[in-house]
Amino acid sequence: MRRGGGGVRARVEVTRHPAAAAALAVLRDREADVAAFAAALDRLARVLAVEALADLPLVPGEVETPMAPARVERVAAGAVVLLPILRAGLGLLPAFRALVPEAAVAMVGVVRDERAQAVPYLDHVPPVGSGQRVYVLDPMLATGGSASVALGRLRERGAEGGQVTLVVAIAVEEGIAAADRALPGVRVVAGAIDPGMDAHKYIVPGLGDAGDRLFGFAPAHVREVTR
Ligand code: PRP
Ligand code: URA
Repeated sequence: MRRGGGGVRARVEVTRHPAAAAALAVLRDREADVAAFAAALDRLARVLAVEALADLPLVPGEVETPMAPARVERVAAGAVVLLPILRAGLGLLPAFRALVPEAAVAMVGVVRDERAQAVPYLDHVPPVGSGQRVYVLDPMLATGGSASVALGRLRERGAEGGQVTLVVAIAVEEGIAAADRALPGVRVVAGAIDPGMDAHKYIVPGLGDAGDRLFGFAPAHVREVTR
């Protein structure tokens, strides 16, 4: 995990795991079809989940093995909330649920309009208790408008930055800064940080439109990001 913040207050961690690099190679490839894209996003999500969830607090317990009592540790009931930003955040959700099956799943629906402004359309975010950890899931952090909607909802419902991790496949510094304004001190775990965005606010080189590619609406072999 490489740490850095680009001058903003957000705590930023970028995975260096080889499996993440290999998954990103598929995700960035315009020739990858919907099945290859979805499978690669799930592989990347597994790496990000292991790294993002490494800070989970545990509570002690005890079980009886077939041989003797054993001290164990568990994730506290109700301690974890996963919050995918619809649509594309759904691609990261199964990997996180596999590691913390007891987690509650909140949801926010946000879509960028033709001017890349974030337009919310679904809000299913419960109050956040001080002992909870929240993991906001979205493959792309571009302008940060969509993430800011989700982080703003969490802030309204009681969350503080130290409790919240934003997990993304690819980020740019502008998006990280916007996320930190929406919820100061938020932690960001990313697969990669790219240099910038084009005039339409698509990440360059990025991977194109994550939701369209994940759900099969991207025209094959079309550079939709630059039209
Ligand atoms: C994409 C992506 C992020 C958002 C990032 O969603 O999944 O949510 O753009 O861009 P931003 O940082 O500039 O807000 P999109 O609006 O395409 O919706 P979708 O997930 O339904 O495809
Ligand atoms: N949303 C995407 O899906 N891709 C980008 O590059 C930027 C925002």
